[in-house]
Amino acid sequence: MDLLLKGKKALVTGSSHGLGFAVASMLAAEGAEVSINGRNQAAMASARDRILKATGVNVHGFTSDLSNAGAPARLIDDAASAMSGLDILITNTGGPHPGRFEDSTEADWLGAFNLLLMSHVRMIHQALPYLRRSSIPSVLTITSFAVKQPISNLVLSNSLRAATVGLTKTLALELGPEGIRFNSILPGWTDTERVQTLMQNRASQNKTTPEEELKKQAADIALGRLATPEEFAYAAVFLVSPRASYITGTMLSVDGGVLKGLF
Ligand SMILES: NC(=O)c1ccc[n+]([C@@H]2O[C@H](COP(=O)([O-])OP(=O)(O)OC[C@H]3O[C@@H](n4cnc5c(N)ncnc54)[C@H](OP(=O)(O)O)[C@@H]3O)[C@@H](O)[C@H]2O)c1
Repeated sequence: MDLLLKGKKALVTGSSHGLGFAVASMLAAEGAEVSINGRNQAAMASARDRILKATGVNVHGFTSDLSNAGAPARLIDDAASAMSGLDILITNTGGPHPGRFEDSTEADWLGAFNLLLMSHVRMIHQALPYLRRSSIPSVLTITSFAVKQPISNLVLSNSLRAATVGLTKTLALELGPEGIRFNSILPGWTDTERVQTLMQNRASQNKTTPEEELKKQAADIALGRLATPEEFAYAAVFLVSPRASYITGTMLSVDGGVLKGLF
């Protein structure tokens, strides 16, 4: 199936590695012009070079910390200016510090609020004028399966992701009449640097090894293994493509069956 993405202009944030990188790479492989971002300049430049080498499409790289108040709006303007427009926005950042409620400080909560909710709010707010000029406007927020089933030792994510999903659904309803689609993907356990760090954290808490923790985690997933970032990207790229033109307001779990509830 041709996803009709050739020449479309996409910004994927938090994309120097992990889920965002896989999505940006796949969009580029489908012929979209892409902009990527991350905080670390060297990691972002390396990601840009790898995508360019693999696909030959135009890739623009930007460096900023999206938890800082002015950064999301600046990134939207810079990316839209570099690409002369914006059709697709995929909002994503790294996750917050792990920890239990009683370990969390006021500063942790405010930091996570800026990282996990306000980065999406600020980017989408600034992107709307550009998206209104697109013929295929689409926004995808990347959240977590924690929205449906809290993950142990991740109180900040468990609490704030739900707000981002509430935002996504509200925007789908408010802006559907203008043809702008909003969806969210709730990733399950996917093999990225973040998950490796989380497993190291669990291992030092439980006096085990990261490999043992990964094995325990995999045993709790119906498919018995973690996802690859590419398995996540196939779903994300379809959802933002014109082929998903009648899908909006959807919260799609890509989780290998880790969620145990009926809905
Ligand atoms: N992987 C999973 O199993 C899983 C499951 C559920 C939810 N999630 C969530 O999905 C998101 C992506 O996960 P991932 O596994 O791909 O994470 P990751 O491997 O840590 O990658 C995160 C990406 O975002 C960038 N980034 C981090 N903080 C940023 C910030 N403040 N501003 C701008 N860029 C930032 C990172 O680059 P720099 O470090 O250079 O900034 C990197 O490119 C996270 O929010 C994570 O919590 C992941």
